[in-house]
Parts: sequence; structure tokens; C-alpha cells
Amino acid sequence: MSRSDDQPSNAWAIIHDEDYRRDYRDPVIGHNSHIIMAGRERQSLAGDWAFTLDPFEEGLRQGWVRTCFAPLEGRDAPWDYDIANGVTAQVPGVWNLARDEWRHFEGLAWYGRWIETEPAGGNERVFLRVGAANYETLVFVNGFFFGRHLGGSTPFFVELTGHLTGRDFLHLAVDNRRSDDRVPMGHIDWFNYGGVFREVELVRLPTVFIRDAFIRYDPAAGGIAVDLLLSDPVDAAATLSIPDLGVDASVRLQAGQGSVVIAAGAGEVALWSPEAPRLYAVEIACGEDRIRDRIGFRTIAVQDGEVLLNGTPLFLRGVCVHEDDADRGRVTDDADIERRIADAKALGCNMLRLAHYPHHERVAELADRHGLLLWAEIPVYWAIRFDAADTLADARNQLVELVRRDRNRASVVAWGVGNETADSDARLAFMTDLVETARAWDPTRLVAAACLVNKAARRVEDRLAPLLDLVGINEYYGWYYPGPEDLLAIDEAYDLPGAFVITETGADARAGLAGDPSILGSEASQDDYFRTQCAVIAEMHHLRGLFPWVLYDFRTLRRMNSLQHGFNRKGLIAEDKTTRKAAFAALQDFYASIAENTDPPGSDSPSPSAG
Ligand code: GCU
Repeated sequence: MSRSDDQPSNAWAIIHDEDYRRDYRDPVIGHNSHIIMAGRERQSLAGDWAFTLDPFEEGLRQGWVRTCFAPLEGRDAPWDYDIANGVTAQVPGVWNLARDEWRHFEGLAWYGRWIETEPAGGNERVFLRVGAANYETLVFVNGFFFGRHLGGSTPFFVELTGHLTGRDFLHLAVDNRRSDDRVPMGHIDWFNYGGVFREVELVRLPTVFIRDAFIRYDPAAGGIAVDLLLSDPVDAAATLSIPDLGVDASVRLQAGQGSVVIAAGAGEVALWSPEAPRLYAVEIACGEDRIRDRIGFRTIAVQDGEVLLNGTPLFLRGVCVHEDDADRGRVTDDADIERRIADAKALGCNMLRLAHYPHHERVAELADRHGLLLWAEIPVYWAIRFDAADTLADARNQLVELVRRDRNRASVVAWGVGNETADSDARLAFMTDLVETARAWDPTRLVAAACLVNKAARRVEDRLAPLLDLVGINEYYGWYYPGPEDLLAIDEAYDLPGAFVITETGADARAGLAGDPSILGSEASQDDYFRTQCAVIAEMHHLRGLFPWVLYDFRTLRRMNSLQHGFNRKGLIAEDKTTRKAAFAALQDFYASIAENTDPPGSDSPSPSAG
């Protein structure tokens, strides 16, 4: 039980205690709280929540969550907090865009609301699901502290069974401070929004329920492989049905776990691809629980530097995109995601790189439906505290929360474990752990990272690269440093087993800024940048993918000059997500030119190093 039960309510009694957070460090809520949500009923808690900023963390110091329910007349001391009479903020939402005075607040803020739901019945359990809140979230109901979650872009769950009375007060204390031991750390090139920016829901489940199900097409295993995990280590029998494949199988579970492989030879399953995004209805039942999903079956692999989708070589015609909206920050919805997918397809893409953190789960669900490959990633970005065990635990947990949330999505083909992290022994150990963690939780997908290049030696020398299936390089030849000819030398020298891709390349342009290519920031200069880049890229024999930086301009406080005004303007489309810049057509032309033949751009002239 937390200390708040005996914590004095008098504001004076606590001003000498600076270790007030000691009671709010454990338990840490992590991926073990995961519950598969496919097809489940959920009670939304979206709407106007009571809200207050708390820059001095008085709420934790004074034990607000315990004292805020007593009636006004019963108070034995003046109080500094009264959530019932404060202001409100939207959930899902980011406080930075709710009020001008909250724009740059980084610290602790309190969300609170009454939840009216029946207490759990006899054979029932009730869980709270938070889709995402940035960065650290402490969960309280009726003043009881359930635990804290770290990580700003992945879901977590708290069991409320036994704590519900029919009308209960839920507090979420959210701290979005940047800190060098977090993931990401304090220096990033995107806006550090704060808030509960994805859905918060209640989920009612039977006492024993299906906690996780991993379903995929695995020809090596003989067909469709299914691993099931129950909430409790009990013996049980589950049923698995895939009507369009005539599958009605039973799965025996022992101590809460069970697996089955549904025999399905080549040709029996219509394989999913961007061109033919075939999804199958899948239903799994066990006891009184049931999940329903629509799943695409496909294979993805890298062999001799080639990316093979369903065994066929593929050039990844990608583009990077942040989860950012000029008006709503990190909040997104189906319309926003459908536009993102449509714009990527209009560009000629078959893939999106979801920079630099896990995007909303609806992105993968809609990419499954519309046919687009996805590179999902965790924000192990720049100068992470690679020597800190807690930081590694945080990064590992965010990765597993992402994998467990999305590993039934055919569109997700790669787990990105890092972006532009400098090579060191500590970093190699840290990143190797993440590569191994990704493979342990999902041996069916590619493990990827955006690496740095040794520009002087004109080689990919990153010691992480040999461990990767997709070896990405971020290069800005022609923007941050002289022209792209060195790319040919880097390509020539490339001799790693993974598939070689450019994970970022781009230049800033302000939409509508006229002028010829010599005018920095003009649309013509960005267009010229990409036409120059693409002409060189077309000659790169080893290259198997390209992800221009970036689909839309996005907000960042690192860019405050007269051209950028608080936005990174390397977007091919302005932050209005409507105004295409001239460079959009340059890439459209390039992708159209290579889409016709499945061979990679540089492969028409046999590469001498390919042997
Ligand atoms: C880096 C980084 C991006 C950043 C981009 C830029 O490569 O990965 O997050 O926004 O460069 O400088 O625009």
C-alpha cells in the first residue's frame, strides 16, 4: 500500500521531504500487462477530463489523490488542489496544443475523471487500457496507487477488479519531462508533446481470458502457426477458426500455453502483399473468452542482401513519416491515417517508415487493409544512456510492448531498434540486446536500424550493422554536407549480409517559397536535391530500399530559423498535409521509373562486388 495512506494532508508537513517519489517507483507496469485486444468490446473513457499542471509535483508531495475526495467543510488545512473545480483537457489529447500557456510545459500534469462502471461480477475481471501517454504515467483509482508506466508511445493495462464500487475516481499523473536516461533522451528532433494522447478504455473479461495470441504464416513450420497464452496457468482447450481456409481446429493448452500449426501448403493460402492485401477472418475462443481478427499471411526475409516478400525480391519504395499534426499533435484518427497511407501510395510507395517511435495501432490495421509495408521502431535515438541498466530495461520494454501489440499485422515487416546512435562498446551491447529481444519475441520479422556512415572512409562500418536484416543509412549528401557522389563509393564498398537501404535523405523547403534551385529553402532547391539524389541512387547496385525524409513537415523546437519557424520542413508535403511541394513529383517520377521492374534501381548494370 502506498505511503499516501498516512501521508499528512498539511502542505507544511511535507516541504522538507525531497524523496517523496519513493512510494511511486514500484510496481512498474510493463509488457507483462499486455492483453490482446482483437475484436474485443471496450468502454471508452474519451472526453473532457479534469486537468491541472503540477510543476512542483505537489500532488505527489501532498497526497492529493487521497485527500481530494473529502468535502470542503471537512478539511483540516488549506489545500492546494481541487480537481473537481479545476480546468479540463481532452483525452485523447496533448496539453501543449490545448492552451497557449501550456504550449511548452514539460513536467507533471494530472488528468482525473469519475468512472461509472459496474464492479466486476463473479466470473469477471475489469482492466484499464491506456493506448499511450507521454512519458511516465502513474495510475491511481480512489487514491490507491497501482503503478507507473514508462514509455510514451505504447499501450499498458492495469487490473481494476476489486477496486471498483460503481463510481470511482481515476487519476493519471503524466510526466513528459525529457531526461537523459529516458528513451528517447533529452535531445530529439520532434516536439515533446505531453498528455494522454491515445484512447483510454475499460475492458471486461472472464476470469480466465486469452492474454496473447501470435498468428503467422510460417512455411518452415508447415503452415499457419499459432501460439496462445492465457491469463492464468491453467489447462484448457481453445478453438481456432479461419472460415475462408476451412480451418476449425482445437488447441490444447497446458499451464496456460498452447501452440498449433495449421497445415497449409503453398497455394492454399492467398498470400498478403501490398498489391493484394488479402486478410482472413480468424476467431479464437477459449472458455468464455473470444478474440476476432483479420490477418494477412505472408513471409518476409532477407537473403544475400535481397528483401524477399513471399519469396520474391522487392525494392522498398518508402518514405518516413512522424505521427504529428499541426492542430492535434500526436493525436490521430482513421481519417488522418488513411490520408497518410493515400499520400504514400500517391508518391508511389510500397512502405512507410514510422519514425521514430511506435505509431497508433490503427496504422498497422489500416496498412494491412490497404496494402502498405511498415517499418515500426522504438525511439532509441541519438545519445541514449547506453551504459544505464534502467534505460535498457525501458527500451526493451517499449520494444516488446510494440511487438506484442502489432506482431499479428502483416503490414509490419521490420522492427527498427535504433536511429543514428553512435558506435561504442556500451551502445553495441545495448543494441545487441534489443536485436536479440526483437528476434526472441518475433523470429518472423526483419530487425532493422538507421545507422551512421563513416563519411571519411565512405563505408558503413557500424558494428551493429552485421546483426541487422535491414541496414539503413541516414545520408544528407547535398544538404548537410557536399553532393551525393560518395554514395556510389559507399555502395561499392557495401559487403554486409543484410539488405542495404537509405533510411533518410532530404532537404528543407518552405512550401510556396519561389526561386531557383540556388535559393536555400525554395521548393526548386528541394526538388533539385531529390532529382540529383535519385540520379545517383539509380546507379547504386546494392541498394534495396529508399526512405526519403519526410512525408509531412512536422513540429520541432530545434528549428527556429526564418525558414523553418518551429517546423522541420523536409516534408514533401507541408504541415497542412495537403500542399505538395515540387519535390513530391521528383520522387513520384523516380518511384514510377523503378516500380515497373522488380529489380532494384542499380541492378541493371551487374554490380562487380555482387560476384
Ligand atoms: C536525422 C534524424 C531525423 C531528423 C533529420 C533532420 O537523420 O534521424 O530525426 O529530423 O535528420 O535533420 O531533418
